[in-house]
Amino acid sequence: MKATIRDVAKLAGVSVATVSRVMNQKGYVNSETEQKVNKAMQQLKFEPNQMARGLAGKRTKTIALILPDISNPFFPGLARGVEDIAQNNGYTVILCNSDDMGVKERSYIEVLKKKYIDGIIFATNNLVREDLERMEEAQIPFVMLDRAPNMESGCVIKVDNFGGAKAAVEHLLNVGCKKIAHVYGPQELTTAKERLAGYEEVAKQQSWYTPTLMIPGDFTIDGGIKAVEALLGKHPDLDGIFAGNDQMAVGVLKGLKRRGISVPGQVAVCGFDGVNLTEITEPELSTIAQPIYQIGELAANKLIERINLSSTHYETVELGVSLIVRESTRKSVMSGSK
Ligand code: RIB
Repeated sequence: MKATIRDVAKLAGVSVATVSRVMNQKGYVNSETEQKVNKAMQQLKFEPNQMARGLAGKRTKTIALILPDISNPFFPGLARGVEDIAQNNGYTVILCNSDDMGVKERSYIEVLKKKYIDGIIFATNNLVREDLERMEEAQIPFVMLDRAPNMESGCVIKVDNFGGAKAAVEHLLNVGCKKIAHVYGPQELTTAKERLAGYEEVAKQQSWYTPTLMIPGDFTIDGGIKAVEALLGKHPDLDGIFAGNDQMAVGVLKGLKRRGISVPGQVAVCGFDGVNLTEITEPELSTIAQPIYQIGELAANKLIERINLSSTHYETVELGVSLIVRESTRKSVMSGSK
C-alpha cells in the first residue's frame, strides 16, 4: 500500500503539518527536522499527493465558510463579518450549509479541494483528527469557530460559554428568582455542553437544585416551546428559565404565553447569543450577547494570515460575552407582580 503523509510524519517523529511544509518548501523547518523528513520519505518511497502540491502553488482568492444552518439568526451576522474582511482583502466567500452533518462537511471539503479553495472557515463538532490532517496534507489552511472538536489543531475561535451561562443564572438570582430551570442545546455541541456546565456550576449551590430542572431544547424555537411544557409539568413553581440560545428563549416566551404565564412577572427568561430577534420579542429578551460579527471578522483575519504565512500552528482564541438586561428579567416589574 502506498505510504501516506501520516506514515512519513510518524516515522520522522514530526507532525503532518511539518511534513507538508517540507514537501512544499513553505514555512520554517530547521535543517535537522528537514533531513529526518526527507529520510523518512526515501525509506517509505513516499510520493507526494500531486493535487496537494498543485494546491500549494495555486491561489484562487476564494475561501469557504461552512456553517450548520444560515437560517438560524446566529449565523448571518457571523457570515457578514467573515465576508467583509474577506472582501476587503480581495477574497470571495463560498457559503455552505452543513446541517451539522459530518458527511456533508466532508463532502464539501472534497469538492472545495478540487476548486483550489485557498482556505476554509467552519463551525463543526463532527470532524475528527484524520479530517484535519487531510486538510493539512492538501495544504488547505482552516479556522474553526464557535464550536470545535477539542483536538489542539488549527485555529479555534470561541466565546466564554461557561462564564456566560454562569452570568445568566446569577442575573436571574439577582432579580429575585427562587427556582431556575435550564433549556439546553444538543450536547454533542461544545457550545451547548459548556453552557449547561455553567448553569450547573451556579445552580448546584442552590437549595432548589434538582437535575429535572435541566431539559433538552435542540437550539430551536419549537424546542423551547416543548421544553416549557415539560418543565412546568414537573416544576409549576419555577420562576426563572435560562435558555442555551436565543431561538429556544423565544420558544420559551411563546410557551409561557400559551399557558397564560406572565414574563417576567411570574417567570423571568434569559437567552444566549444576542441576535436581533431578542429586541423585537414581547417582552424584549434579556440575553448573553456574543460578539457575533467580530467572531466572523477575526476568523477571516486569522485564515488570511494562515494563507499568507502558510502557518499551521495550533491556537485558541476565547472572546468575552456580555449580559444585556431587557424587559424579560426586569427586577422592578418582577418583584411587584407575583
Ligand atoms: O443558535 C445557534 C447556536 O449555535 C448559538 O448559540 C451558537 O453559539 C452556536 O453554537
